[in-house]
Amino acid sequence: MAIWNLGSINADHFYRLGHIPAPGETILSHALDTGLGGKGANMSVAAARAGARVAHIGAVGPEGQWAIERLTEYGVDTRTIATLDDPTGHAIIMLDEAGENAIIVHPGANARIAEDQIGLTLSEAASGDILVMQNETNAQAFAAETGAKLGLKVAYAAAPFDADAVRAVLPHIDILVLNEIEMQQLHAATGLVPSAEMDVATIVVTKGEKGCTLFEQASQWQPQDFAAPKVDPVDSTGAGDTFTGYFLAALDRGASNGEAVELAIQASALMVTRHGTADVIPDLKEVLDWS
Ligand code: RIB
Repeated sequence: MAIWNLGSINADHFYRLGHIPAPGETILSHALDTGLGGKGANMSVAAARAGARVAHIGAVGPEGQWAIERLTEYGVDTRTIATLDDPTGHAIIMLDEAGENAIIVHPGANARIAEDQIGLTLSEAASGDILVMQNETNAQAFAAETGAKLGLKVAYAAAPFDADAVRAVLPHIDILVLNEIEMQQLHAATGLVPSAEMDVATIVVTKGEKGCTLFEQASQWQPQDFAAPKVDPVDSTGAGDTFTGYFLAALDRGASNGEAVELAIQASALMVTRHGTADVIPDLKEVLDWS
């Protein structure tokens, strides 16, 4: 089977800071690193490093060939990435000494992906393949509806959170991955909790160092808690994307939701011990050796 990812591709600029600046404050950065990122690209790399066949549906600008080449190097099928006139997306990631971050994303080409490109690409997918999206591209609802019609398992990672974006895809998705703050925001905006009313077969709520909670239709959405291993975090950026990529890769090769969560928790715990995003996502052997 395969994973099709309608996802963002960003140049990530990491600024190491003593603290995240307050409104009106100017501070100096200790260091600047640049790498491949974007929630979409991170998920594609994570799923590929976890052993899945992954095709990335996305777009870069004329100066973005380096990002396509890097995704290819990392094992992602990039034939479905367009090169557009808009600049490649980028992110300014402010990282404090405790490993916490604040991020600004400029979408650029990520917001200009043509529906034709999505439709044509998905026409190559097989029923039972997985389609995943996050909220950093345009055309999420179109892709979700198309994927559902084609018999794909449709997954959505609700980040960066926007209640309207979630509402638009909810009728079409089978899997929802979000963190506990995003779950609270979704509840505040819609009144929904994981249940028959929300009608999403698998919901995973990630909770950082507290692990995560799985809700499955098969068990009437009763919460199942999973603990996370204890680590000394240096950078939480991309850990959620690593979780989602690993989770979907495990499902794609036939693991149960619970088994997929166990693997994804290990991968994301290892990820927070590293600085960077797509370039440093661990591969399956590293995760299994570390667990
Ligand atoms: O989740 C981390 C990602 O968010 C970064 O790679 C950055 O590009 C933003 O999209």
